[in-house]
Amino acid sequence: MKQLVLATNNKHKAGEFQSLMSDLGVEILTLDQFPQIGEIVEDADTLEGNAEKKAAEVFRATHLPTLADDSGLEVHYLNMEPGVFSSRYAGPGATYADNCNKLLVNLRGVPPRRRAARFRCVLCFLARDDGRSVEEGVCRGVIIESPRGNNGFGYDPIFLPDGSSRTLAEMSSIEKNSLSHRAGAVRLIRPHLISYFQTK
Ligand code: IMP
Repeated sequence: MKQLVLATNNKHKAGEFQSLMSDLGVEILTLDQFPQIGEIVEDADTLEGNAEKKAAEVFRATHLPTLADDSGLEVHYLNMEPGVFSSRYAGPGATYADNCNKLLVNLRGVPPRRRAARFRCVLCFLARDDGRSVEEGVCRGVIIESPRGNNGFGYDPIFLPDGSSRTLAEMSSIEKNSLSHRAGAVRLIRPHLISYFQTK
């Protein structure tokens, strides 16, 4: 079977990608199957930079077609923070709850109409030395005042997608996968994957 390496160590994100791409007929490998690669430092100052860096390092190490992502939450009132620092907003080693709490504290007293936010996911597909495809998905919504729901991960309990009365953490994984930033990015990168794997 054809293989694709998913360049993430985040089990939640890997699970979402596996469901979003289950129909591609491609075996999806994850980084825990390549322990020799070790930790890839995400030190670029953009999501695009980190996705491209991860794709390049993993492709170089595995020589297999690689799909890398970087994602984050951008809050308008906070000048698009936490953005590229989403996973470590409350400091190194912060838990998802720590990050949500810090965001809620920083938005304390801010009225609902000024709590707009968006999740962004940037995907980079690299299968040859001489070309890469980069696509982006966005999910818009607002940050609510206290967490709701137990599903998903990260900022899901405090993010209410536009047009929804439930947070991402109150949705099933199927519902989240129908509207998430990750789903949007996969929709756009899919033709690149299909055209690459068709020729193999
Ligand atoms: P990274 O892409 O692994 O650097 O992680 C980005 C961080 O953004 C995650 O640790 C989460 O805190 C947050 N994040 C990214 N995507 C999602 C999502 O779908 N739901 C909730 N939080 C997310």
